[in-house]
Amino acid sequence: MRERTGVKTLVNNDRKIRGAVLASGNGSNAENIVSFCQKHAETIEIPVIICDQPKAGIISKAEKLGVPCSVIPVMRVDNDTALSARAIQEKKVLDVLSSYNIDWIFLAGYMRIISVDFLSRFADQVLKINRVVNIHPSLLPAFPGKDSYQRAYDAKVKESGVTLHFVDAGVDTGSIIAQKKFTRIPDESFEDFKARGLALEYEVYREFLEQLSKGRINAAGN
Ligand code: GAR
Repeated sequence: MRERTGVKTLVNNDRKIRGAVLASGNGSNAENIVSFCQKHAETIEIPVIICDQPKAGIISKAEKLGVPCSVIPVMRVDNDTALSARAIQEKKVLDVLSSYNIDWIFLAGYMRIISVDFLSRFADQVLKINRVVNIHPSLLPAFPGKDSYQRAYDAKVKESGVTLHFVDAGVDTGSIIAQKKFTRIPDESFEDFKARGLALEYEVYREFLEQLSKGRINAAGN
């Protein structure tokens, strides 16, 4: 397990925190984040969700939650390279974020690598982190990248878990805010294994948001 940052700093909380959720899939974490913020609307709000997949479940969930969802896929046109198509998509995402005056990004199953240029827009010189947070479905540094529950399950690990971390230029390498573990139950199905992990993802994100909404970053996770 990576060493935790141990930072415990007051956030400059003169105004309400304005976060955006970025998601690519089913959106259960996005729903969890928005529901939490709607209950703590005096200190933290999510005025927009951004999704890069036009058929993702999060789009209908956002509608039910009453939060606008901007769908911004990577569109590759004739002369574009894959790289420029990704840069164009990110630019559109940044434009939406700036139109909503967003200062925190909550990644919730957003399956894209965020560029260094994007991260630099959310660099916090005081906290010395990027104000971009990601939930990852493993005990990092174990099983970074995609399909982490599946790979941990297939590897028959005795213990798995989830990690909330700040995002840096690497893939799932940013400083850890908090981790939660669960023990594998012998003979449990993959679906049950994953469901137990997801429940911990929601818990860990809510605990972080609670700290943040009180004006505190508790990177030590306690
Ligand atoms: C979650 O398990 C999340 O941790 C994972 O995608 C899932 C999204 O589920 N994220 C990653 O793997 C990022 N590397 P959801 O759409 O129901 O929130």
